Amino acid sequence: MASELQAKYRKDYQSPSHTITDIDLTFYLHEEKTRVVAISQVRQLDSTNQLVLDGENLELASLHINDQAWTAFKVTDTGLELSALPDGEFELRVETMINPSTNTALEGLYISGQAYCTQCEAEGFRRITYYMDRPDVLARYTTTIVADREKYPYLLSNGNKIEEGVTEDGESWVRWQDPHPKPAYLFALVAGDFDMIQEQYKTKSGRMVTLEVFVDKGNRDRATHAMLSLINAMQWDEERFGLEYDLDVYMVVAVDFFNMGAMENKGLNIFNSKFVLANDQTATDYDYQAIESIIGHEYFHNWTGNRVTCRDWFQLSLKEGLTVFRDQEFSSDLGSRSVKRIQSVRLIRGPQFAEDASPMSHPIRPEKVIEMNNFYTLTVYEKGSEVIRMIHTLLGETNFQKGMQLYFERHDGTAATCEDFVSAMEDASGIDLKQFRLWYSQSGTPVLTVSGEYSEADKQFALHVSQHTSSTVDQEEKQALHIPLKMSLYDSEGNRIELRCNGEKVSDILNVTESEQTFIFENVFEKPVPSLLEEFSAPVKLFYDYSDEELIFLMVHAKNDFARWDAGQMLLGKYIRQNVEKVRDNQETTISEGVIQAFKDLLLDKSADPAFIAEMFALPNFNEVSEWFDEVDVDSITTVLKSMKVELATALKPELLSVYHQLKQSDYTIDHESIGQRALRNMCLSYLAFTDQGNELVQNQYQQALSMTDVIAAMTAANLAGLSCRESLMQDYSKQWKHDGLVMDKWFVLQGQNPSENALSMIYDSMEHEAFTMKNPNRIRSLIGAFLNYNPKRFHDKSGSGYQFAGKILQQLNTINPQVASRMVDPLLKFKRYDKDRQALMKKELEALLNMDNLAKDLYEKVTKALDI
Ligand code: TRP
Ligand code: ZN
Repeated sequence: MASELQAKYRKDYQSPSHTITDIDLTFYLHEEKTRVVAISQVRQLDSTNQLVLDGENLELASLHINDQAWTAFKVTDTGLELSALPDGEFELRVETMINPSTNTALEGLYISGQAYCTQCEAEGFRRITYYMDRPDVLARYTTTIVADREKYPYLLSNGNKIEEGVTEDGESWVRWQDPHPKPAYLFALVAGDFDMIQEQYKTKSGRMVTLEVFVDKGNRDRATHAMLSLINAMQWDEERFGLEYDLDVYMVVAVDFFNMGAMENKGLNIFNSKFVLANDQTATDYDYQAIESIIGHEYFHNWTGNRVTCRDWFQLSLKEGLTVFRDQEFSSDLGSRSVKRIQSVRLIRGPQFAEDASPMSHPIRPEKVIEMNNFYTLTVYEKGSEVIRMIHTLLGETNFQKGMQLYFERHDGTAATCEDFVSAMEDASGIDLKQFRLWYSQSGTPVLTVSGEYSEADKQFALHVSQHTSSTVDQEEKQALHIPLKMSLYDSEGNRIELRCNGEKVSDILNVTESEQTFIFENVFEKPVPSLLEEFSAPVKLFYDYSDEELIFLMVHAKNDFARWDAGQMLLGKYIRQNVEKVRDNQETTISEGVIQAFKDLLLDKSADPAFIAEMFALPNFNEVSEWFDEVDVDSITTVLKSMKVELATALKPELLSVYHQLKQSDYTIDHESIGQRALRNMCLSYLAFTDQGNELVQNQYQQALSMTDVIAAMTAANLAGLSCRESLMQDYSKQWKHDGLVMDKWFVLQGQNPSENALSMIYDSMEHEAFTMKNPNRIRSLIGAFLNYNPKRFHDKSGSGYQFAGKILQQLNTINPQVASRMVDPLLKFKRYDKDRQALMKKELEALLNMDNLAKDLYEKVTKALDI
């Protein structure tokens, strides 16, 4: 069993005693016995003659220092301890044997389908050779790959190809050299046979770069959108950030077995095939957008992550928060800014807020880590990007870009810290970020409680703002944060009132810095309607006691689409809360006429962007609603969400039908306008599915669908509304796509989300489907992930059957792939949020995990935290 003693603390960071300036790697690829020869040039940085190298699952074949067989070493569970080392510089030669074929953890060198590939972030390089596997050791890499010529025609690694040939045994070899020093986590190797598409890109300074996308044989026609997205990303980074690519070649390889979305290895990105492969028949609009944003994300890492990397893993948000911010801006500039913002905010308000209130709560820069893989979280990524966005809000675009330039001037080619980033922003702008830094060290979600007070006599409007952050598991004491609160005041005609204070015009961004503050606005000639936390200017929960009328007013009149959406959400939220109370008292749920009328007007508003209307109509989901309550009442919330959907569908049926029919398209194109129209049309269908015409409409749409978007929208509607056509659609789809795991993932998601009473037994059947395997993380996330995270009714079944299923799967996954197991356990960790009976049942499964004798440290860390051990 993993022991608590292995925890690492941020405060214990020590700079390395040695560094490695160059490494020459040779791989003799073999399925069970790959030989790796690593020759490193080591340089002593202090006076120590001992060096600890990291290593896991390795067989040591030989060890030399300066060409001498070395015996002064000890092999431990976690690596090699070398002693009696020479002073100054020396050459270290390590030869290891590794077994890619049994590597189901998908970390280090492994086999995906017919190809070899690597995943080294965060600490996977130590499964390839004994090395200083830490991000502050930056070396130049030369990599030689030797492999069977027929089976592996493409042998790829980082940098530029410098030599190739054939060995005496007739195997081929290729040598790569990466001129940019990098930490081991950015190393990559791929060997296989692929279809490849190629383009030439001319950078803004006129250099030519070869772009290559590699996909499984037969998938060439599914690679074009990824290539297009890459070109767009390169152009965008030149225009908005002034950043250019720095090698002659940029390669993207799609693999089917991958633990996460994609990986930014220098010059050789490796992608989960889910985020590369797409054509009209296999991918939804949502898939197309996800590909664009992840291709962008990995490309943007070339500067924010690779050119400037992290000093230690506690600084992960330095590269991830910033790169998520950059990919969000990329999607916003290319598509609809408000729709992108709405989607990002929903991710924060649902899953990130939940994580920050769970036993896994941690600041965006964690203080204590047992297994680093457990900290690739919504907090580090998404809340991390919100923190960068707040800096952007406080500084403005011009100063922010100045800060970026200064950051690169100071830290290019080095390993930096979050503090370095904030200092660069502060120094470039002259804006004080002292108190703001608390966002890096304080966990939990702040609550802003705001009230307004109008004085007719003084023509003044006062906003009383108080902030409070509750204790979290990891941190008892909380301090007041620097919160940028963006706001407007509206007059009764729907015009913005100029904000004036002490005789001067003031900014629409209030600096909330104390636990209680009052902001007074002058020259306000009527009682205004405040629009608060516009653009979600800070990742906080906001409370303001709005009337229905005020919210409807903002839904209609706010001059900012995000604010309109947010008002709509608050309005729906009010009714959801009220209805939850009613259901508990055995009363009928209701929605007022005024609310129904407001949504009707919106639906018929020809001037609004259809994609935006679709977002307005999306009810808050179960996970978002759960965040509004201390104790989650599963039964009442699911009942209310369904009955409100039915009620809106019934009341707006004629309008929904007319919009649905008007928006029918005669061909499929993936520009933003057509995507928006499909989004609205399919949103209408999701409501209409709950009316008497549901079955007919859904069946027709399935049969006439021109694209995967419309197919999946029909199947999703059938699934959630429990329509009688569900089974036949599911069968038809499976017949057509059973040989394509990636396309079948959409089917597995539907099985996982199936709200019907026999869902669990159908999930067991799905696990027997020929496309399913416990070894592929995408299949697990689709079927099991959907059940645990998006099927509240059946996962939280009172009998405990859903929890038992989860427990059983987690025990299996613990051995197959601990990283994936650890992601899947999250819903169980939150047991304290449910009623006593459910708590006990969930806890039992966690305890059973803890009693296993081979529990990996990934699960160990989370389960012990949850059980408070
Ligand atoms: N750095 C990757 C990204 O943000 C994340 C990643 C990919 C990762 N694969 C991983 C992290 C495996 C941990 C383990 O794009
Ligand atoms: Zn990233």
